[in-house]
Amino acid sequence: MSRAQGAVRWGAVLLLALAAGAQAADGVEPNTRVPAGVVRYAPTGFPDRIVASPLQEGAGGFAVSWRTDATVPAPLLEIVVAGDSPDMGLPRRLVASSHAQSTENGQALQHHVVVDGLQADTLYAWRVQGDRTWSAWHHTQTAPASGEPLTLLYFGDTQNKNVSLTTRVVREAMRHAPDARLALYAGDLVSGGNDEDDNEWGEWFEAAGALPTSLVVAPAPGNHEYFEEFEDTPQERRVLGAHWPLAFALPGNGAPGAQGTSYWFDYQDVRVVVLDGTSALDLGTAQAQARWLEQVLGDSRAAWNLALIHQPMFSPRQDRENALLREHVLPVLERHRVDLVLQGHDHVYGRRGGLQAGRATPQYLVSVAGAKQYRLSTQARESMAPVAEDTQLFQVLRIDGQRLRYEARTATGRLYDAFELIRDGQGRQLRELGDGRIPQRDCLRPASPKGRNDRCWE
Ligand SMILES: [Fe+2]
Repeated sequence: MSRAQGAVRWGAVLLLALAAGAQAADGVEPNTRVPAGVVRYAPTGFPDRIVASPLQEGAGGFAVSWRTDATVPAPLLEIVVAGDSPDMGLPRRLVASSHAQSTENGQALQHHVVVDGLQADTLYAWRVQGDRTWSAWHHTQTAPASGEPLTLLYFGDTQNKNVSLTTRVVREAMRHAPDARLALYAGDLVSGGNDEDDNEWGEWFEAAGALPTSLVVAPAPGNHEYFEEFEDTPQERRVLGAHWPLAFALPGNGAPGAQGTSYWFDYQDVRVVVLDGTSALDLGTAQAQARWLEQVLGDSRAAWNLALIHQPMFSPRQDRENALLREHVLPVLERHRVDLVLQGHDHVYGRRGGLQAGRATPQYLVSVAGAKQYRLSTQARESMAPVAEDTQLFQVLRIDGQRLRYEARTATGRLYDAFELIRDGQGRQLRELGDGRIPQRDCLRPASPKGRNDRCWE
């Protein structure tokens, strides 16, 4: 190597080091990895954003939503009992209802199909149509009628940097629970909430990988699925963004005033009731949702009842108080002794029992799957256990007969929290499972990379 070549090489090394240094010093990663001006998630004739969701009765089938460009109205879904031969027999064909969607990535059609009349506890192969093409054959198992073990996953907010940092959580969850059939999401799937967030939705589906075409997905809506209309004016109000209701084909059995964003379903031995906390808090539906919840829980014959809502009943973050939920929804959850109340929104982890001393249920959980990390309030540190900051988590719930086992695991799969609920007549016993848990995790940064000392990471 000549002296000149050596100088050029060392100059290049120095430039790379400076560039790396600049990144590290800044430390702030953009919310998507799509650079400005680059189109990454344009709709095409190939089906994408394919996701199965539960019907009201999980054993009878599921619903599917997918996306194409605007050239594919009313495409087909084909479904057949899965077989070992590539020749699986003549599939049943169903025609989708198609809904137009205009985004910064172009004109799309979002397609919905309800697949009902299926046999319980059966593995089905299904695929969806695009423009002169089809998706892969996906495998989804319908729920058994009752009595068999069930594994399900729960994810707190994913929201930010989904490809970069949610991907690993989803993969670790599926590795730890390959038998999971159902995935619950606490809402704030993305951060955008308006019509310029299509890249974020593209990232959410990319991060989710094979999960939405293998399991059935039941999301709660978060406040970030809404946007502010007429912001900073007296007419300011929350409006549901276009993506959430089109991205999923969910049961239309919700509460008055929140029909499209609250719903319930029975899956095997579990009734899941999904509430819209944003509508309750900001759009005046707290009482209507509480009345509806009262009826849905009162009618439930399921062995286990779970509630899913974005905003927590007991907020573990400083200066957050969801008073309308406490006033209207909390008493219903307590009265019916819902087993688990699965929540998000506060970007920390915390668990606590209910208002009745000596009762095992409800157990109130707040978790976060994504990158954004806040800080715990002093009150949360005193009233919840365990708690965590600065930790991405996922939850595995295993139901087997009289037992529900709950595990919260970190992004690397380490056990953070675990307990069992044991059915005991009409009541429940709580058994803490302390073995193998890692110690409490606290935020050790004085401020987030952007300098906010009320957060731990952006
Ligand atoms: Fe939120």
